[in-house]
Amino acid sequence: MLVLGLESTCDESGACLLEAPRNLLANVVRSQVPSHSVFGGVVPEVASRLHLQYLAGALEEALKLSNRKIQEVDCIAASNRPGLLGGLLVGTTLGKSLAYSLGKPFIAVDHLLGHLLAADLDGDMHYPCVAGIFSGAHSNVYIGQSPLDWKLLARTRDDAPGEAFDKVARILGLPYPGGPSIQKSAENGDENAYDFPIPLPPSLEGDFSFSGLKTSVLYQVRGQAGKTAAAEGAYPDLAASFQRAAVEGLVKRMLQAAEEESVKAIYVGGGVAANKKLREELTHRAESMGIRAVFPTFAFCMDNAAMIAGAGAKLAEAGRFSSLNEDVATGSVLGM
Ligand code: KG4
Ligand code: ZN
Repeated sequence: MLVLGLESTCDESGACLLEAPRNLLANVVRSQVPSHSVFGGVVPEVASRLHLQYLAGALEEALKLSNRKIQEVDCIAASNRPGLLGGLLVGTTLGKSLAYSLGKPFIAVDHLLGHLLAADLDGDMHYPCVAGIFSGAHSNVYIGQSPLDWKLLARTRDDAPGEAFDKVARILGLPYPGGPSIQKSAENGDENAYDFPIPLPPSLEGDFSFSGLKTSVLYQVRGQAGKTAAAEGAYPDLAASFQRAAVEGLVKRMLQAAEEESVKAIYVGGGVAANKKLREELTHRAESMGIRAVFPTFAFCMDNAAMIAGAGAKLAEAGRFSSLNEDVATGSVLGM
């Protein structure tokens, strides 16, 4: 089954051709990051317009790279939720128009299902499993029984981890996106220099909360709450200590969920899954508990069309095609 995938939920315009399950013929991602970084974050209006400019070109390039014709496609999968409405409208309208004109089925894909199944593009996923989506918008932990059966175990009460990395980077004067720049700055810092709170309640159960951690960094930088402002020379220590606390919260919650649910496999998706410290820490600690932690290939962690096509293929196999009346939405069907 040849699936055309389209991704336009946030600031990456993506198009791919996937011979399901995992023969990826082309995976084109046109990042909008340079256009948004001047504003320090994603500007929805700018994102919508850039999807309009980039997406058709990404599709053309994917067809060219894979040496296939659009008529050879068996179905068209586009992310229709959750995300910024303007971008979602561009992607789904392109997908539906192609489906209508080619007489091929359309599949609306929840972007979070794409992240959950991203690891499947590298090899068979093992069920039951615990899976986390840690991105600029989500901090969700799930128990999965099969590719299309996921139950939400934990989410965030405020910021998502990627959002916290982005905001803390801003506080420290580091460029957007904050994840990679904090990771880089942290390489020159002492992660034990500051004892920041981890983003979990004391019981280590329930939902994440990143606001306390974020505010603690802010207080160190601004010198509020009776503290003197940290010297700029201490910023790498702040970055490293923040990263340690953020990662510790994610690792503890994932391991706790895996233990509670008695699973032997953990999967992690979303942009924050690219974080080196998270990868090392979770892999190592899971291994010592006899659990395998799997991170998708770097390109499948960040927003991309391949994961949308992969999830679309699973939905198609289950006969879950969408009507051309299918709407877009800011929220996910998988919780938040
Ligand atoms: O999944 P993604 O590409 O888009 C969303 O759906 O949000 O994730 C983007 C987020 C950004 O907040 C970015 O700062 C974060 O992922 N990120 C990282 C790293 N690389 C990207 N966070 C921590 N460490 C990284 N290396
Ligand atoms: Zn995403």
